[in-house]
Amino acid sequence: MRTPAEGCTKCSLSNHRQNIVWHRGNPFGAIVLIGEAPGADEDATGKAFVGRAGKKLDEILMKAKAYNANVPIAPEEVLIVNTVKCRPPENRVPTEDEMTKCRPYLQSQLELSNPHIIVLLGKTSADALLGGKSSLGDYRGSVHQCEIGSVVAPAVVTYHPAALLRNPKWGAEVVKDFKEVIRLWKDLNG
Ligand code: URA
Repeated sequence: MRTPAEGCTKCSLSNHRQNIVWHRGNPFGAIVLIGEAPGADEDATGKAFVGRAGKKLDEILMKAKAYNANVPIAPEEVLIVNTVKCRPPENRVPTEDEMTKCRPYLQSQLELSNPHIIVLLGKTSADALLGGKSSLGDYRGSVHQCEIGSVVAPAVVTYHPAALLRNPKWGAEVVKDFKEVIRLWKDLNG
């Protein structure tokens, strides 16, 4: 797939990539989920969240959809993106410099979808999009305001699905966070 980041060499992540990982789902999705960075499966396919963490994420979204058929939260209805479009070596956390250089791409994606709600998957994307440095525990449980370019949208922070794979006991907490997303959607859309 050709993307606006085609041929990008703004940071050294471009030296290692097989594919730019632009998104998965609906580019105009009213609910946007933002993860950290592509992993090996995403680098190989050019699609976001297609590995084990992606399957877990789809499971969560399908359950949320099954309970709330009117909310556009199924995997093919939401937009799924990352803070950076290329895989960091050894799956390390992207640096601030890498995220800053990649941010105009993320901004263009968010401006196109103009989301009603943003879901931040894990601390890296929460720090990057909320402009701070807090623990996941401090981020969770409140609705934040996320501003990027012309987009201003409420944001909910939850566990990254890879963290959930490592600690299945956090599943109940993730359900709570997605109930908050559904509540917000209903508040905003009647
Ligand atoms: N983890 C992420 O944060 N993003 C992906 O696309 C895959 C795994």
